[in-house]
Amino acid sequence: MAKRVGICFSRDLTGTDPLSHIIAKKPVYLRLLDLLVEEGFAVFVLTRKTYLGNGVFDGVWEYQNKQFSLLRKKTKIDLVYDRSGGVVFPPGEDSLRVVNIHDFKILCWDKLKTFQEIGPYMAKTIWVGDFKDYQKVLPEIKTDWVVLKPYNGLKGMGIYVGPKDEVAGFKPMEGKHYVAQEFVDTTKGISGITESLHDLRVVIINQKPVWCHVRVPPTGSFKANVAEGGSITEVNYNTVPESIKSVVKEISERFYEKYDNPIFSLDFGLDKSGKPYIFEINDQVGFPKWEMKNRDTFLKELVANFKGKLQ
Ligand SMILES: Nc1ncnc2c1ncn2[C@@H]1O[C@H](COP(=O)(O)OP(=O)(O)O)[C@@H](O)[C@H]1O
Ligand SMILES: [Mg+2]
Repeated sequence: MAKRVGICFSRDLTGTDPLSHIIAKKPVYLRLLDLLVEEGFAVFVLTRKTYLGNGVFDGVWEYQNKQFSLLRKKTKIDLVYDRSGGVVFPPGEDSLRVVNIHDFKILCWDKLKTFQEIGPYMAKTIWVGDFKDYQKVLPEIKTDWVVLKPYNGLKGMGIYVGPKDEVAGFKPMEGKHYVAQEFVDTTKGISGITESLHDLRVVIINQKPVWCHVRVPPTGSFKANVAEGGSITEVNYNTVPESIKSVVKEISERFYEKYDNPIFSLDFGLDKSGKPYIFEINDQVGFPKWEMKNRDTFLKELVANFKGKLQ
């Protein structure tokens, strides 16, 4: 029987288009589903809301002949590609085979944990806890500027980037615990790629850098998140500096073994001396746009990743 592979979100089990929340990149998601069908898998879209445990979902959407049908019945899935937010799914102790595994999701979710794991490759990161206690850790931050961010934040929300002595006017996100990071001054850019402030993202699957882009913050901002108005340009990985490539290689090899060949991205900034620092690791990688050159490289490595896990 065909192995059952499903991509899992956090939606309600209703309607006949489980991808209706994906707007611009929907054709890319559909292409992934089609490639999985071509590979001989039975393909599903899932929601963590119907997950019962041990691989069984109480209701799924089946993808067949390029169409979805909602099946309100218990369905056992062999491999789940998790695209749900937060860390409640997948559960830690469970027989479900899932990409990425729970431990890896926890690692990426927690920026202090990430720092403890990859040490010197990341901008120095220190626990703050309540934002109001930030002053206690400032002496350990050796740069003139400091970055204060929720330890488990996303989309650039609630982040302070600026001089140490101007933090007082900043309004932090309520109810969030914070970490402090040394500021990486990326204003010198990356030779041949970008002139000034940047984040260089490398997406890794099966230990291969499968696609890469640079994000540039809008004028006046130091945050390159798309949600903050950052612009994305695809980058040919061959043009990436060796200093970044060697970090990518080292971390890819380590994570491959330790975290069951995860799918992830590394966000880099080059400081003024040309040394690369990682800002964060993401375990939920944004898909490339349809017109990106390496779209299919990305999708085909995803399929190969799933295949490897089902052998
Ligand atoms: N230590 C740092 N030095 C310089 N810029 C940073 C640093 N940390 C974050 N940034 C900028 O802020 C953005 C958001 O920070 P990030 O850690 O990626 O949080 P989020 O999870 O909210 O995206 C980064 O993409 C980068 O542009
Ligand atoms: Mg980020």
